[in-house]
Amino acid sequence: MESLLITGGAGFIGSNFVHYVLEKYPSCRVVVYDKLTYAGNLDNLRDAAGDPRYSLVRGDICDETLVEEVVCEHEIDAIVNFAAETHVDRSILEPGSFIQTDVYGTHVLLEVVRKLGLQRMLHVSTDEVYGSVTDGSSVETDNLLPNSPYSASKAGGDLMCRAYHVTYGVPVVITRASNNFGPHQYPEKVIPLFITNALDDKPLPLYGDGLNVRDWLYVLDHCEAIDLMLREGQDGEVYNVGADRELTNLELTQTILDMMGKPSSLIQHVEDRPGHDRRYSLDSSKIRKLGWRTRHRFEDALEGTVRWYTDNRWWWEKLKAGDFESYYHEQYGTRRVLADS
Ligand code: NAD
Ligand code: DAU
Repeated sequence: MESLLITGGAGFIGSNFVHYVLEKYPSCRVVVYDKLTYAGNLDNLRDAAGDPRYSLVRGDICDETLVEEVVCEHEIDAIVNFAAETHVDRSILEPGSFIQTDVYGTHVLLEVVRKLGLQRMLHVSTDEVYGSVTDGSSVETDNLLPNSPYSASKAGGDLMCRAYHVTYGVPVVITRASNNFGPHQYPEKVIPLFITNALDDKPLPLYGDGLNVRDWLYVLDHCEAIDLMLREGQDGEVYNVGADRELTNLELTQTILDMMGKPSSLIQHVEDRPGHDRRYSLDSSKIRKLGWRTRHRFEDALEGTVRWYTDNRWWWEKLKAGDFESYYHEQYGTRRVLADS
């Protein structure tokens, strides 16, 4: 696959994937196709800008005419779809754009793959589609039981992929990953939010009792899994991508504070997220059988991430001062601080 359309390539995971591909495949061309929403950031692609194998198109995945035009013009072989509205709290405030991009937009890409006969579409999805997991771990054939407008929209996109494969034979592969972390993650997500707040000695707003569990996957391990599945996954199949590194949010927060030499008194328990899933957990044996494994130790990767945010204030300070400020106020200005904090 010599020419990739990377939708959502200006976001967190997408931009990490762009750099990964340009470095790994000297003859591969990438076209980033991105709407540049609040989460799309050209600073993430600064290092690729001078590379003749890279180009950028500002566009919406819901715009079928433009997607088709770009695919033809750049002789695209495959689409890797990262484009999505991704933040659960925002989906609770305003679900419409999630349904539009994550369901309808996914359908548009599938339609273009079908019409133009592309070799493959890799659709990047999430463990959240399985819903909250009390015991054990989700396997790919489990029912989808999404609980937030975000996860319901992602589940809708996944089901569109399934339907396009079964009905039209579209060569689509789905990956479902756990929580990612690393450089270039927008500071609304818990790890960059807590690191950047702690750097400024601001409170870390921990939802509810802080005992919700997430499984933390370093973004480059995720990129490797996506690359492998793009090339070696089976059409119509789903692959879970988990790190087996489950932590409560409280454990995670304490680890970050310890790494940064900051006091626990920065933790502020606030009112819980509505519909907050208690735990996600993935059984990733299917992708492991194909040779994938995590290659980054959690503690090292987290330390590297703390260092990156410490050294790159220029990247996040302007984000937190811009659109984020009004969002943050809407999110936390009304969120009650719990008595025991
Ligand atoms: P992000 O929010 O950082 O980036 C999303 C990107 O998509 C942005 O560049 C944005 O401008 C673009 N975009 C949004 N709507 C668009 C549209 N209509 N047309 C074109 N571009 C559009 O997201 P991320 O964290 O990098 O996540 C990427 C993908 O991975 C998403 O599909 C997400 O559901 C999935 N995922 C994320 C995680 C995680 O922990 N971050 C875990 C598992 C799966
Ligand atoms: O599981 C994969 C998913 O991980 C992705 O599909 C999503 O796109 C991504 O946003 C992420 O969703 P989460 O809701 O798990 O991530 P978030 O960083 O928002 O929250 C992680 C946990 O931390 C969650 O239990 C809520 C909690 N949290 C979050 C924020 C922002 C807090 O306690 N306080 C906060 O301020």
